[in-house]
Amino acid sequence: MSAYLDHNASAPLLPRAREAMVAALAMTGNPSSVHRPGRALRALIDAARDKVAKAAGAEAKQVVFTGSATEAITQAIVGGVKAFAIDRVIVCATDHAATLKAAEATGVSVRVVGVDKDGLIDIEALGRHIETANLAGEKLLVAFSWVNNETGVIQPRGRIEAMVGPTPHILVIDAVQAFGKRDLDFAASATDMMAISAHKIGGPAGIGALLVKGHADTVRLVPGGGQEQGRRGGTESAALIAGFGAACEGFNEAFSVERIGELVEQFEERLLMVAPDAVIFGRETERIGTTVNFAVPGLKNTVAMMSLDLAGIAVSSGSACSSGKVGRSHVLSAMGVAPELGECGLRVSFGWSSIAEEIDAFFKAYETVLSRHRQKGAAA
Ligand SMILES: Cc1ncc(COP(=O)(O)O)c(C=O)c1O
Repeated sequence: MSAYLDHNASAPLLPRAREAMVAALAMTGNPSSVHRPGRALRALIDAARDKVAKAAGAEAKQVVFTGSATEAITQAIVGGVKAFAIDRVIVCATDHAATLKAAEATGVSVRVVGVDKDGLIDIEALGRHIETANLAGEKLLVAFSWVNNETGVIQPRGRIEAMVGPTPHILVIDAVQAFGKRDLDFAASATDMMAISAHKIGGPAGIGALLVKGHADTVRLVPGGGQEQGRRGGTESAALIAGFGAACEGFNEAFSVERIGELVEQFEERLLMVAPDAVIFGRETERIGTTVNFAVPGLKNTVAMMSLDLAGIAVSSGSACSSGKVGRSHVLSAMGVAPELGECGLRVSFGWSSIAEEIDAFFKAYETVLSRHRQKGAAA
């Protein structure tokens, strides 16, 4: 049996999302056209916007569809820096490349706040940045990933909102890995902008959204023809948007925090049984109950992944965007993980379609990998 244990990279498409997309693809027209076919597509987009808004605790008018969460984050950070004359951008060392690269692209000074050994942001350092900016009369844009994609570590969003929210500074949250699993509560929160993505919850890739409050409207990166209330030009893909809306509903039904949490607990127990020397990163802190990032000392992730892949088991060595590259994870490095151990980090992530049999399949293959590794160690 094969196993797909890489939901943090991209979740399998939910049947409901596929159906909604197929139906939308059969429709003709441009949603901006005033004729009947155009209006039908507009209605489809509006209905999907309502579903996405509901799932994110946002108002429909706060949802701006984008081509990905990467685009949404870039819009928020680069557009936000321009719109609010930001002096400095603050990011967290373990943030996704979408955030780190967007911060670099702003052209203003960037400060990277570190994390502790469990991956939790250095809240005192963040506080010092805010204090310094307040004294200097500078304006900050603070951006961070709420749930880390590589380790599942959850940052203290409430504390960060309480620090940044009451100030004139701008707060941007990458909520990609939290969406569907935590209550985003966007409209009532102190967050100015938030980014989400469809393909992490069983929707299609190529569609994301920026949730944005009225006061936090950014400078548009893609002004174009005035679509998305003038916030993102380009003819909307009704099929992708319909798939996103359907996934928001379908994910709620298909994903159970309790069921997946139990699977992950089982996985960790079995892992420590077969490899008592395994190190599970972020284990001492609160993690989203879908993700296990671990290392068996001396067993390189490239070696383990290759053998697992041959056995039909899909896992990852970290972020999907960087796993093609052999090297260390910037997330594990920031947590102070030694380079040799970092090169052994494997990420296993579960989601709506995960079943216990996939864990069995994983361990069947992984035990072979482990025994080969131990034989090699004994022969050396
Ligand atoms: C935490 C996080 N932020 C941002 C992204 C980017 O999302 P998208 O693939 O929609 O651009 C990802 C996807 O890997 C992610 O895990």
